[in-house]
Amino acid sequence: MEPLQLREVLMFALGLAMVVVAVALAPDQNQTLPGCNSTCGNIQIPYPFGVGNSSTQPQQPCYLEPKFHLVCNNSNSNLLWADLTVLSINVQAHQMDVMFWVARFCNDSDYNNPWITTAAFSISRNKNKFLTVGCDSYGILNSNYENRTYSTGCLTKCYGNNVEIIDNGTCSGIGCCQVDIPPRMRRISSIQAATFSNSTRDCSYSFLAKHNSYNFSISHLQSFPYVTLPLVVDWTVGERNCSRFESSRNEYACKDHSHCNDTDTDIGYRCTCDHGYQGNPYLGCTDINECKSTDMNTCISEQNCINTDGSHYCFCPKGQSGNGKMGEGCYRKNAVTKLVIGVAAAIVTLFMGSTSLYLIYQKRKLSKLREKYFKQNGGSILLQQLSTRENSSRMTLIFTEEQLKKATNNFDESLIIGSGGFGTVFKGFLENNRIVAIKKSKIVDESQKEQFINEVIVLSQINHRNVVKLLGCCLEREVPLLVYEFVENGTVFDFLHTQKKVNTETWKTRLRIAAEAAGALSYLHSAASVPIIHRDVKTANILLDNTYTAKVSDFGASRLVPLDQTEIATMVQEDHLFDVLQVDMVNEENEKEIIEVAILAARCLRLNGEERPSMKEVATEQPDLEEKESRSAGRRKRGVQIVPCGNARVVRAIPKSL
Ligand SMILES: *[C@@H]1O[C@H](CO)[C@@H](O)[C@H](O)[C@H]1NC(C)=O
Ligand SMILES: *[C@@H]1O[C@H](CO)[C@@H](O)[C@H](O)[C@H]1NC(C)=O
Ligand SMILES: *[C@@H]1O[C@H](CO)[C@@H](O)[C@H](O)[C@H]1NC(C)=O
Ligand SMILES: *[C@@H]1O[C@H](CO)[C@@H](O)[C@H](O)[C@H]1NC(C)=O
Ligand SMILES: *[C@@H]1O[C@H](CO)[C@@H](O)[C@H](O)[C@H]1NC(C)=O
Ligand SMILES: *[C@@H]1O[C@H](CO)[C@@H](O)[C@H](O)[C@H]1NC(C)=O
Ligand SMILES: *[C@@H]1O[C@H](CO)[C@@H](O)[C@H](O)[C@H]1NC(C)=O
Ligand SMILES: *[C@@H]1O[C@H](CO)[C@@H](O)[C@H](O)[C@H]1NC(C)=O
Ligand SMILES: *[C@@H]1O[C@H](CO)[C@@H](O)[C@H](O)[C@H]1NC(C)=O
Ligand SMILES: *[C@@H]1O[C@H](CO)[C@@H](O)[C@H](O)[C@H]1NC(C)=O
Ligand SMILES: *[C@@H]1O[C@H](CO)[C@@H](O)[C@H](O)[C@H]1NC(C)=O
Repeated sequence: MEPLQLREVLMFALGLAMVVVAVALAPDQNQTLPGCNSTCGNIQIPYPFGVGNSSTQPQQPCYLEPKFHLVCNNSNSNLLWADLTVLSINVQAHQMDVMFWVARFCNDSDYNNPWITTAAFSISRNKNKFLTVGCDSYGILNSNYENRTYSTGCLTKCYGNNVEIIDNGTCSGIGCCQVDIPPRMRRISSIQAATFSNSTRDCSYSFLAKHNSYNFSISHLQSFPYVTLPLVVDWTVGERNCSRFESSRNEYACKDHSHCNDTDTDIGYRCTCDHGYQGNPYLGCTDINECKSTDMNTCISEQNCINTDGSHYCFCPKGQSGNGKMGEGCYRKNAVTKLVIGVAAAIVTLFMGSTSLYLIYQKRKLSKLREKYFKQNGGSILLQQLSTRENSSRMTLIFTEEQLKKATNNFDESLIIGSGGFGTVFKGFLENNRIVAIKKSKIVDESQKEQFINEVIVLSQINHRNVVKLLGCCLEREVPLLVYEFVENGTVFDFLHTQKKVNTETWKTRLRIAAEAAGALSYLHSAASVPIIHRDVKTANILLDNTYTAKVSDFGASRLVPLDQTEIATMVQEDHLFDVLQVDMVNEENEKEIIEVAILAARCLRLNGEERPSMKEVATEQPDLEEKESRSAGRRKRGVQIVPCGNARVVRAIPKSL
């Protein structure tokens, strides 16, 4: 290092050191009035205490009031308050430590009862004790103020020289006793030490002492080492309390940035610096630079702290965010924000990426499975069928599995409206609020699958008000689903078996239902392009809507019968037709009709198909029409489309229900 550089560095260090020293000394400055000695020996003399007059003009006392007047013996650096040596003065605590005399009684000609004549300051209650040391001794502390006397004291008995039982080191009550100082002990009229017995050789000692300034020892019974002991006094300003200064502030001792503070146990008042200020309130408090002390600010560093009069605040440099306080601190807005956003985005991207990859995988798997089922369930055949359909407006809808799961609340059991060998029927709610019946087939083998697709194809080809409408199907699952229009009033079977009372109206309704069912079957047999044979007509397969209109359903066993091909019925003949009639059904009004229907039913039950009327004939056989018989003449001549009624199992149903 070059000599020049070194010198500069040293100069800089010195300058820095001086600044530090100046800062460190700052709070101790101006503890006295100008021109007054601030110390006596090594004892600080803060105002309102003072020694003599100021050296500067105009000469004035260095103390606030006469009671704060101290004397410094420059020859031995002894600071005196009256005749008591001052040890220290504390402005903040408003206390002063002085050396006070020990009272002594040895014999009638050798004793000492010290006192404090001034009532200026009171004996600090919480900093001192009153003690008596000796055997068969007692001590009394007498205070007299405003013509009132307060006394306290303690006694100690040893009963001879029972020195062994005396607790060495503690003032336990034998050899040494101690008591607390009562309040308002100001003027000490006397401290007395005394003995109970003339025979005691040793002296007794009584004294006030600051805590921990005196430790008892057995040896003190023979020779007591102290003439004086430290005593703490509480000092106050003036003679009255703060309220007085609300009107007259002239005599007010509390200067800038300080306030008056009453004491509950003493006369006079005290001054305390306002919050955020420090120093001597009797000279004026100065602002605390909180930024210089880490204890007084919560800023992250001194550079982030701005001191204000009585307070401070923390800040962040330009371009940074935050409050500059511990905890939040400061951070570069952009960089940190970018970083946070970047990290967050990365995490989100990663998460979403992996999630979507997984979902895609799952979806592919599912859609492959669905495709497989769709094919298995004859989806392609159905699509082919549907595509060749002329009337595409009636196109059967292909529902997705999701749609139907949603409609049935994932096939909630509470929505089941029917179940049996064919499978389960759920009530479902489509998104357009349409109520549907969803049939979940129970398919056990391939042949039944065929049956299922058959029903789809059959039903998708017919549009008749008495045939339950197939709205669509779902082939995406192992078990295919069919979606029908929802028919409210249950089956004819239920209708017949729940109706207790039978009257003319019931008969009319029944007849209409039968006619409608017959009409539907007739339509299936003849009107559709290819004859459809239901093969499982029974009351349980005829549904009723809210107006009791019949809706033929369940075409699972149906067949599309090619032209010119008819099937031979393999029906059982049930002989006593009229036995099964409900007894109360017949009345004068409907008797004729019932007989006609019964005859018709009987015709349908003939073994020879040629002898049975066609379904169309059955359907048009309106009992209330007069010429019904004649209209049926020559009906079989058209031939090809005629399917005898017995071929449908309606023949079994009619007599049973009648
Ligand atoms: C404190 O002392 C300095 C000089 O040491 C003086 O300039 C200043 O006026 C004093 N302040 C008060 C309040 O006495
Ligand atoms: C202040 O102290 C100096 C010596 O330390 C002494 O000479 C001087 O008399 C003292 N002034 C007062 C007013 O006591
Ligand atoms: C101190 O000054 C006052 C006047 O301000 C004067 O009356 C008094 O005699 C002086 N005391 C001493 C010791 O100089
Ligand atoms: C000052 O101290 C010396 C030495 O202890 C003593 O002789 C003298 O009397 C004292 N002066 C006062 C005024 O107390
Ligand atoms: C009192 O005690 C002192 C010593 O402590 C002794 O010198 C003096 O003679 C005693 N006086 C009487 C009357 O006992
Ligand atoms: C105390 O008593 C004296 C005389 O007995 C009397 O002059 C004085 O006023 C009394 N002081 C108070 C504060 O009562
Ligand atoms: C009592 O204790 C003091 C100090 O704790 C010790 O110097 C002294 O010898 C002790 N006296 C006895 C009799 O033990
Ligand atoms: C102590 O001695 C004095 C005179 O010697 C006597 O008057 C007094 O009664 C004695 N006190 C006790 C407690 O013995
Ligand atoms: C008295 O004892 C306490 C603790 O035991 C100690 O801190 C204190 O300094 C002692 N006081 C004296 C005057 O020896
Ligand atoms: C202040 O002193 C007055 C009488 O001088 C008294 O009435 C008042 O209660 C005192 N207030 C407090 C807070 O001690
Ligand atoms: C009054 O003084 C006491 C003791 O000095 C202190 O604890 C208290 O905070 C002060 N009150 C105010 C309002 O400054």
